[in-house]
Amino acid sequence: MKALEGKHVVLGLSGGVACYKSAQLCRLLVQAGARVRVVMTEAATQFMTPVTMQALSGEPVVLSQWDLREPNAMAHINLGRWADAIVVAPASADLIAQLAQGRASELLALLCLARPAQRVPLLLAPAMNREMWAHPATQRNVAQVQADGAQVLEVGQGEQACGEVGDGRMLEPEEIVEDVVAALTPKVLAGLHVVVTAGPTFEPIDPVRGITNHSSGKMGFALARAAREAGATVTLIAGPVHLPTPRGVRRVDVQSAQQMYEAVMAAVDQASVFIAAAAVADWRVAQVAERKLKKDGSGQPPSLTFVENPDILATVAAQPRARSGHLYCVGFAAESHDLLANAQAKRVRKGVPLLVGNIGPATFGRDDNALLLVDERQAIELPPGPKVALARQLMVEIAQRLRGGPA
Ligand code: CTP
Repeated sequence: MKALEGKHVVLGLSGGVACYKSAQLCRLLVQAGARVRVVMTEAATQFMTPVTMQALSGEPVVLSQWDLREPNAMAHINLGRWADAIVVAPASADLIAQLAQGRASELLALLCLARPAQRVPLLLAPAMNREMWAHPATQRNVAQVQADGAQVLEVGQGEQACGEVGDGRMLEPEEIVEDVVAALTPKVLAGLHVVVTAGPTFEPIDPVRGITNHSSGKMGFALARAAREAGATVTLIAGPVHLPTPRGVRRVDVQSAQQMYEAVMAAVDQASVFIAAAAVADWRVAQVAERKLKKDGSGQPPSLTFVENPDILATVAAQPRARSGHLYCVGFAAESHDLLANAQAKRVRKGVPLLVGNIGPATFGRDDNALLLVDERQAIELPPGPKVALARQLMVEIAQRLRGGPA
């Protein structure tokens, strides 16, 4: 199931060069399964044509509260009732000022004012010149609309259309979509701190070589994203991977198993859930050479001696907070065969209440996966699907178990 399947999103555009990004945002929302109705201010139409937005959304664009296509002539009421979320991107300084004052002279501001505020989240993605953003009037208005219940997304930093460099760029469309999905996700993990490990570890041999594995980190990153969407505070402890940090997630980058162990121990103290999705190297080289190992001409390769790495999951699961149920531990098992039997045995061996099995070679590096959830009572299959969709289902399963409800 797509992240925004069946959801209704009103996408508002106010005036600004960043309107060029709104076309892509509209496409991404539609691709994520949402029905999108676009509302544009008059200023926005100077930067982007309604024709483009109508073609991309596949729905009539509304420009004025006097639009007589609406049978009851109340576009502002109809759209507010229809919407599951309203996203204004770009939100100009003027639009934010109008909202701060509760003005309703244009359809977009009127619609925001008239929305059923308890049910329909309002997200604003500001975009403006850095001086306008930094102006005390704008900052005052931002604080006011936040106090009134709007979610104001941060601004990006960098080169601006005016040639200046600084704060005030609109976030990228992909980032805004992540926040829309999060705004519409039930907060089953609200108030909890979730720690996730992800990716491979890298065990050095000498300054230029090391031992690692094929884990891409995608499952762990999807878990971190899904936990944040579900309302948790998330710490993601990542081995060496090339993946963007999910929105709103605190990321700690590490290389070796030992470093991952230390980062986890520092993070789990306050955590309620620990999910070990990393493919941690079982062994490391006993003596890391200070200098690059060279061929000595004898034809004999160097002999390496290994020592075992700490088992991060088993160590955390043995802590008093975990044993008393205050820290819920979830392990992963990447197996090549006999998934159920291996996962059941591993759950007991690691001392965790929930173990998630998958077939390693079938999932490493891919966007799709299939999971087998094994707990004390049963084994449940989550059928093949995108890792992020499986991660969302797993969060619901974890939340149910935390509440002691039906598994
Ligand atoms: N794990 C860990 N620290 C380690 C090894 C594994 O935290 N040093 C965690 C993994 O993140 C995963 C679970 O333990 O959640 C199982 O990992 P896996 O590599 O499948 O298990 P091993 O204990 O290495 O078992 P084996 O290699 O015998 O299958």
